[in-house]
Amino acid sequence: MNAAIRAVTRAGIDQGLEVYGVRSGFAGLIAGNFRRLQARDVGGLMQQAGTFLGSARCAEFRTEEGKDTALHRLRREGIDALVVIGGNGSQTGAQALSARGFPVVGVASTIDNDLYGSEMTIGVDTALNIALEAIDRLKATASSHGRAFLVEVMGRDCGYLALMAAIAGGAEAVVIPERETDPGLLAEQLRSAYQRGKSHALVVVAEGATYNAEALVHHFKENRERLGFEARATILGHVQRGGTPGAFDRLLATRLGVAAVQAIARGEHGVLLGLVRGEVGATPLDEVVSHRKEIDLSLFELARVMAQ
Ligand code: F6P
Repeated sequence: MNAAIRAVTRAGIDQGLEVYGVRSGFAGLIAGNFRRLQARDVGGLMQQAGTFLGSARCAEFRTEEGKDTALHRLRREGIDALVVIGGNGSQTGAQALSARGFPVVGVASTIDNDLYGSEMTIGVDTALNIALEAIDRLKATASSHGRAFLVEVMGRDCGYLALMAAIAGGAEAVVIPERETDPGLLAEQLRSAYQRGKSHALVVVAEGATYNAEALVHHFKENRERLGFEARATILGHVQRGGTPGAFDRLLATRLGVAAVQAIARGEHGVLLGLVRGEVGATPLDEVVSHRKEIDLSLFELARVMAQ
């Protein structure tokens, strides 16, 4: 997100615009917490995770009054257009402001990669690499001790990170909300991996699956005698969001941030800037919020084939 803020700021200044940062997302919009940003204010940000402006989940913005207050603040401050960097929740808010007639452009950013209108969103690649580092490390212990490990990755409603981490990390199985797994079947999959001569069994689990790591550990504990092995869980949680952004994310954030400013300069708004067929592309916010980005389930089959 920092790289995107830097891009918006510097591209805006380059276009002769005055750029303001809003602190704490929609909460800052409601509170009128704006700060003028100059080129030097966004220096050294590219390599920092997160957002130096702060972010917040804001219940008040979901109300009609909250949105009205935000619009009032924007107009009172003489703001002409807004760039909203974020995932589904943020772009739903962006669309609501746009529908009320305010010029808004979205920039696709969420580690979950579940936002319609962008093949990849800012943060996904870095989060995935952090998950992979953990998986690679856990495999060392798993192999040495012949243990089964469950690694839970983020993804409240979406199994993208889990599925990709499972394929790239060489996991024996993957559990995602889009393809729920019965714990009994999962245990059979792991047992069969040992029987095929594997020295470890590693499962990547999405946090949003009904049988998440906690539920699976419980099941495996209850059935330890019968299964003949135990499973340890590592829940990565927010660790995945704090990594130094990789080259892919820095470049994507820069391209999308600059494209957002260019769109505003052309008078184009009410759209999300994302990666569409490998290029920077715009999708109407109305379309973004009314569609669900589906995971490619053929990748689930790929994970199975690779786990042999
Ligand atoms: O939506 C991105 C995400 O990282 C989800 O994967 C995760 O469930 C959620 O945010 C965590 O949000 P919070 O930090 O507000 O609990």
